[in-house]
Amino acid sequence: MRSVQVSEPKGPLEVVERDIPEPGAAQVRIKVQACGICHSDSLMKEGLFPGIQYPRVPGHEIAGVIDTVGKDVTEWKTGHRVAVGWHGGHCGHCESCRRGDFVTCSYAQIPGFTYDGGYAEYMIAPTEALASIPDELSATEAAPLMCAGITTYNALRNSGARVGDVVAILGIGGLGHLGIQFAAKMGFKTVAIARGKDKEELVKKLGARYYIDSKSQNPVEELVKLGGAKIILGTVPSGKAMSAVLGGLAINGKLIMIGASDEPLEVSPIFFLSGRRSVAGWPAGTSIDSQDTLSFSVLSGVRPMNEIFPLEQATEAYDLMMSGKARFRAVLTTGH
Ligand SMILES: NC(=O)c1ccc[n+]([C@@H]2O[C@H](COP(=O)([O-])OP(=O)(O)OC[C@H]3O[C@@H](n4cnc5c(N)ncnc54)[C@H](OP(=O)(O)O)[C@@H]3O)[C@@H](O)[C@H]2O)c1
Ligand SMILES: [Zn+2]
Repeated sequence: MRSVQVSEPKGPLEVVERDIPEPGAAQVRIKVQACGICHSDSLMKEGLFPGIQYPRVPGHEIAGVIDTVGKDVTEWKTGHRVAVGWHGGHCGHCESCRRGDFVTCSYAQIPGFTYDGGYAEYMIAPTEALASIPDELSATEAAPLMCAGITTYNALRNSGARVGDVVAILGIGGLGHLGIQFAAKMGFKTVAIARGKDKEELVKKLGARYYIDSKSQNPVEELVKLGGAKIILGTVPSGKAMSAVLGGLAINGKLIMIGASDEPLEVSPIFFLSGRRSVAGWPAGTSIDSQDTLSFSVLSGVRPMNEIFPLEQATEAYDLMMSGKARFRAVLTTGH
């Protein structure tokens, strides 16, 4: 089969021929149809994620069809349309978690990191990681919902914001463009914050009520004019960019960090204590949360806006994502 792998930290995306893998007893083999390219794939490519064994096939926004099942698998059958995502976080109570070794937590089974992912014609997945794709969604529509979708949907639905609250989405890429749609469909007064004017029109079409250009406007002042944000969903891969908007939080406001960055946040304790403000992080979710994300997307009409590339053009697609020029998710297809 054709697959795309990274052979060593900081290595290129190489198109290679590999044997089609065989599933273990409690696993399935998926014939991959589509796989989104998430900014988090850069953590694996650049060697920034602990414990990865190379060569590794990236990709954790996967949609396809079950091709064959392991001998102990009863609920899932060949031909089922399934999706797999970042099976996120860690349980906190297994042996690995007690050692502080979160990467080997059995709950955190992450395609493209702890096992080979979806930049390939076929892949193996454990049944716990599977979500069923509704008929209304194509493979290319379902794939980005498995990480960009679930992460923003799940963070927002658990955020404590109520209908009508001001919710700001900071950073409009793969996650942000879905975050805007989910926030708008959940009934929040949705604000998009991005750098420059070029995304404004598209973002308003996706449901943002307000647009703040952080290059020409001061996001803090603009949020304060709206009464402050109950939630700021930080999807930027930059702690600095998240720090810069904290002053726009309302009383009881919360910054939810979903963008990955090792830059520290700069927080004023007085600003936080005086307004009961908070910061929190959010990892993607479980396969049940994935299933909910797919169902809500069907119910509400949320769809990713994609740029599609054949598997062989993984490098071009990845570079487009990293440049911030993708509108808004680059997705690989295998032709299956
Ligand atoms: N928590 C989780 O479970 C989870 C899940 C998936 C992804 N992530 C992380 O979430 C982040 C976003 O992923 P993505 O796939 O949406 O990435 P993406 O498609 O590359 O979009 C990121 C957007 O952030 C903005 N941005 C980038 N660098 C910035 C900087 N230095 N300062 C300010 N804004 C900047 C850009 O938008 P503008 O130019 O419009 O500002 C860019 O389009 C990544 O860090 C990724 O690793 C976390
Ligand atoms: Zn991701």
